[in-house]
Amino acid sequence: MRALLEINNLSVSFPGPAGLARAVRDISLQVGQGECVALVGESGCGKTVTAQTIMGLLEDQSFIINSAEAIIFNGQPIYEYSSKQWRQFRGKEAAIVFQEPMAALDPTMRIGGQIAEAITCHRRGFPWLGKKAAYRSVSRLLADVGIPDPEIRARQYPHEFSGGMRQRAVIAAAIAGDPALLIADEPTTSLDVMTQNQILELLNTLRRERRMALLLISHDLGVVAGAAERVIVMYGGKIVESGKVADIFYAPAHPYTKGLLRAGQQKNDGSKRLFTIEGMPPSPLAPPVGCPFAPRCREAMSICGRTPPPEVTLVQGHSASCWFCRPNRPEAAEREREREAEREREAETGKQAATERERETERERETERERELEKGTEK
Ligand SMILES: Nc1ncnc2c1ncn2[C@@H]1O[C@H](COP(=O)(O)OP(=O)(O)OP(=O)(O)O)[C@@H](O)[C@H]1O
Ligand code: SF4
Ligand SMILES: [Mg+2]
Repeated sequence: MRALLEINNLSVSFPGPAGLARAVRDISLQVGQGECVALVGESGCGKTVTAQTIMGLLEDQSFIINSAEAIIFNGQPIYEYSSKQWRQFRGKEAAIVFQEPMAALDPTMRIGGQIAEAITCHRRGFPWLGKKAAYRSVSRLLADVGIPDPEIRARQYPHEFSGGMRQRAVIAAAIAGDPALLIADEPTTSLDVMTQNQILELLNTLRRERRMALLLISHDLGVVAGAAERVIVMYGGKIVESGKVADIFYAPAHPYTKGLLRAGQQKNDGSKRLFTIEGMPPSPLAPPVGCPFAPRCREAMSICGRTPPPEVTLVQGHSASCWFCRPNRPEAAEREREREAEREREAETGKQAATERERETERERETERERELEKGTEK
């Protein structure tokens, strides 16, 4: 599959009074034409910053990106686009849908008017598309996203729509320019479970019908399970595991992915005591030197805190960044454990020797004091 979007070693940081916030650290990923890829991870791991960087939505001067070549879209490096080029890119090449549909809609404008604006904006080069034709397209788009009675609904305002319907309207506006890539950043978080599934199904149907790639962002692995073909797991600004859906769900390799899956499964099977990954994600102001997950990882070895783990390919298309996943893992891990135990033994022996030496010195001092006392008594 030809890559539509390529991200190569992208890092994004925000300078601030408290120092440099390293929101995204050296990530690489690809999204193929028409492919559905899920980007998953806990709050603050860098998902939205990645999406905003792809869309050129980060405010000027507020961030630092490591390389102008870090984002390639359709073979073109896009990061240094002018404002005009970004305007042409957004909507036509790639579009984004955010979590809260109300924030994307103008409450004072009819739904149809807002979608018509998106259509005419992206088709400026086609003067034959008059207002009437644009309105016909609005009705078609509203029908495409599953809104019944589209002609009537187009004349209504956002407050007359339910949450799910508003998200459908926002999706209609996003696909108005026929983009090759749609990024959906937590598109279902504010919706109930039934509506969540309907919106995901809609996104996937639109993707197939329009041969559009979909980058689906979520903090919940369960949400993306049915929709995505590939899953990329982020933690602490880094990609820690990526693979086909089956790889991630049936053979997860990274302890963080395993934790996410366990937490999701328990949530779904209604367990009383929910599993949580203890601790908090690292602060982007002081990311750990070694593995970002080391402070919370039950498998952590001493090397994990010192050196970032390399990316290991487990099978074609499935890779994880974890010392535990090295190809010679059982031996390597065993050796590492032995070394650790050895170091602990040495430290313990050293401590015992030091205590013994202290006791010996104390005994010598005691004997000396007794001798001096005896001498004094004899005099
Ligand atoms: N403009 C900014 N200035 C400084 N720090 C920022 C800025 N934008 C994001 N960050 C920081 O970058 C990190 C990643 O943020 P991001 O919004 O990408 O997280 P996320 O994975 O989308 O989380 P969530 O699931 O909560 O949406 C966070 O620690 C955030 O505080
Ligand atoms: S590298 Fe070490 S700390 Fe990080 S996930 Fe693997 S075992 Fe855990
Ligand atoms: Mg986010």
